[in-house]
This record gives sequence, C-alpha cells and structure tokens, in this order.
Amino acid sequence: MTMLIKGGTVVSATGADPAEVLVDGETIIAVMSPGSDPALSAESGAERVIDATGKYVIPGGVDCHTHMELPFGGTNASDDFENGTKAAAWGGTTTIIDFAVQMAGQHVRDGLETWMDKAEGKCAIDYGFHMIVGEVNDDSLAEMDKLVDEGITSFKLFMAYPGVFLSDDAQILRAMQQSSNNGAMIMMHAENGIAIDLLAQQAFDRGDTAPINHGLVRRAEFEGEATHRAIMLAKVGAAPLYIVHLSASEALEHVARARNTGANVFAETCPQYLYLNLEEHLGAPGFLGAGYVCSTPLRTKHEHHHADLWAGLRNDSLSVVSTDHCPFCMKDQKELGLNDFRAIPNGIGSVEHRMDLIYQGVVQGEINLPRWVELCSTTPARMFGMYPQKGTIQPGSDADIVLYDPDNSWTISVDKHHMNMDYSAYEGIEVSGRVHTVISRGQVILENEEFKGRAGHGKYVPRGLSQYLT
Ligand code: URP
Ligand code: ZN
Ligand code: ZN
Repeated sequence: MTMLIKGGTVVSATGADPAEVLVDGETIIAVMSPGSDPALSAESGAERVIDATGKYVIPGGVDCHTHMELPFGGTNASDDFENGTKAAAWGGTTTIIDFAVQMAGQHVRDGLETWMDKAEGKCAIDYGFHMIVGEVNDDSLAEMDKLVDEGITSFKLFMAYPGVFLSDDAQILRAMQQSSNNGAMIMMHAENGIAIDLLAQQAFDRGDTAPINHGLVRRAEFEGEATHRAIMLAKVGAAPLYIVHLSASEALEHVARARNTGANVFAETCPQYLYLNLEEHLGAPGFLGAGYVCSTPLRTKHEHHHADLWAGLRNDSLSVVSTDHCPFCMKDQKELGLNDFRAIPNGIGSVEHRMDLIYQGVVQGEINLPRWVELCSTTPARMFGMYPQKGTIQPGSDADIVLYDPDNSWTISVDKHHMNMDYSAYEGIEVSGRVHTVISRGQVILENEEFKGRAGHGKYVPRGLSQYLT
C-alpha cells in the first residue's frame, strides 16, 4: 500500500521543515518539499493520505533500554513483550532494544534463546537485543564474537549486584579486550556494588528499612567512582563504552571529561533522573517510595543533578534518553521489600512516557525540537547499529513514523496508561503534546487514541556495529 503524509512539519536530528512523506509498503520512498513533485505527491497516487496539518512528523522513537519480563529479586518485570511493546507504541516508540540475560551457570547462547522465545510472535513493534553477560569466562567471551556476527552487537556488564551479576575488574577488562577486537559496545551498570552492599547492610542493621534507604546507600560517589573506573578500564582495553542509566553529576563529570578527550565513551540518562527525586519520590510516606526504587537511584533535589543532566543532554555529554523500563506492581512485587528495602525489586516503568516527558524539555526550553528527535530516535538507532533503517525519515528507511500533536495536553495517570503497573511513577504530571498517529513499517498501529496494531507485527532487527564511534 502507498501512503502520503502531508501538511506536517518533518522533524529530524538537524532541523524541522514542512515536508510530505511518501511510503510504499514498509518503506519510506520520498521526502518532498510540499508541492515540489506534483507527480509523487498527487493525492490520487497514494492509496491512503494522512493529513498531518499542525503536527510534527518524527521518526518513531527508539528505546534502547528495556527489560520486558526481567526476572529480578524473586519476581518478573510485569510487562511481557506483548503488553510492553503495545504500551511503547501508545507513547510513540516503534523500536525497543531489550536485554537478553545470561543467568548464572547458563551459556550466553541459552540466555539469548530464552529471550528470543519470550519475544517471538508477541511484539507490536520491532525489537532487538543487547546481551547481559552474567558470567565473563572463556565460553562467554568466545560466544560474544559469534553474537556480533548475528546482530547482537552490545553487551551489558555490571559493577553492582555482587553475587548476582557483578563482574570484577579483571572480568570487565577481559570483556573489553574482546570487544576491542570484535567491535561490540560494552554497556556498563556503573555503581560500586560492593561498597553499596556494605552500607545497605549497616542501614538494615540500624533498623533503617524504608525505601528511601535504597537511595541513601547507593551514593552518588559510588556511581562517580565506578563510572571513572569503567572509563579507565575501557581506555586500557581499547573498547567503546556506553554508561547506562546515568543519574549523578559525579558520573556525568567523568563522561564529559572522557568525551572531551575524544574517547569512545557515551552515556544515556532516563526520564526518572530528570523529573523525580530522592526526597519527594523515594522518600514518599509509608511504603509509597518503593514505586521509585530503581538503580542507579533517584538523586537528591538539593544538589544539581537534574540541571546538570539537562545541560549534558544539550552539550552531548549525554547522547541518548532511554527508559530502563523495568516495571513492577506495588502489590505482591514491590511489597516483597515491605520490611527490607534491599528486597524491593529494582525498576520503574515508563516505556509509554519517554517521548512525552522529553518533549517537555522542548516546551520548557531545555532542548530544541531536533535535539528531542536526536536523543529519542536518531542517536539510539546510530549508537546501536540500526541507522538508517531506524531513527530517521529518509528514502529507504523503515516507515516508522509518529505524528505528534503539540497542541494537545493531558495528565499522566495510572488510570490512563497501558503498562502493566498498578501505579504510575509520573502520576499527575501534566504533559503538553501528545502522540496522535503511530506508523510501524507502513502499518498504522495507533490513531486518534485507538490502538490498531497487533501482537506479532513487530519483527526482530539484527543490528550492525555502532555507527557513533569516532
Ligand atoms: O532498577 C533498574 N535499573 N532495574 C533494571 C536492571 C538494571 O540494572 O538496568
Ligand atoms: Zn543496570
Ligand atoms: Zn536496565
């Protein structure tokens, strides 16, 4: 089917201009100045014409950090691939990159197959995988090379969670040496987990069991130290490094310094670190703060973390906004830690809200319109080897297109969201702008607040190496 999207303003990472977009089947075949090519844009020529008057026409969002069904702390993240990808579509995201997990004692390959099976036939939008390497050893290192050839080109390691996922410095360096040869990106959860666990035990022994202690013991200094250590190890290992879910100014400082030297060091932040804080959210009365337990944790509002992160998004110290979508319900899930903050499953769900929340940065003057698209669509696609198939509106790219209405406004609430969560971390936040139409590979999957997609439409996307390296 051919489709013409006309009357809108096409926003790319470099600008915003009135343009018409012509789609044939799953692919964009032309982007034209209005009226510039009457033969191509003639309405009679297209089987469907979509009127985008007053709307921004943007490349579908690419959320490069999600955890559908992640097993964590004795439970599983509450969105499966079907529900989570539908929720993503509601929020204007048309591609996710989720994390397949090598569990302790398991072969990397088996971990990947488990995640492939979980996603197969379920997704409403396209998806790829990073691989969490739970055990760095000869077997997993050799497997990394094979996975790169098969389109898994990024590997997450942890400096946190001793006894579960933590890799020691020698293991990290070995993985970096491997990726230096095979070209893969090393993604790092940078927090000093051994020091955190000591403070967590001491807090618990004192009787400090409430959710806020999760944030108090996961000190910003520990994120800064681990980020610096990861950067130094990557320098020695000659590997590209991507710091995930960066929340603290102390960590940002190290990333900015490394990037100023031209190193292949990158970082993402997430909406929770831009909008939520330790005192009001993690420290909410009673057990409500459990809904805000995630790692790295929310930071204190009394320091400059929020302002520094926005500045980092402007000056490219931070290259990407992802969600780290890892939802848990309060009932029966977050409640596992009622008497011990250490047992609260870590994670916040927001796959549905990323595009809207970061658009508020445009409304508030923190970033401009092209930077919104760059942070949420174009750079994640380039960073993880999906560009120009994803992340851009240009001839030859997948027709993943969102019509965004800047004149609509609404309020985020658990009653309205589509994620499988019994609360919203963003309850009551007023949003200017709203997703109007979502097109995934040429199919309209959401229109006028009606979901029209289906589980199984989403395809697995094998990825190339990062296209963001210098
Ligand atoms: O709290 C978080 N971030 N949960 C998901 C796992 C991770 O470390 O990304
Ligand atoms: Zn992490
Ligand atoms: Zn994560």
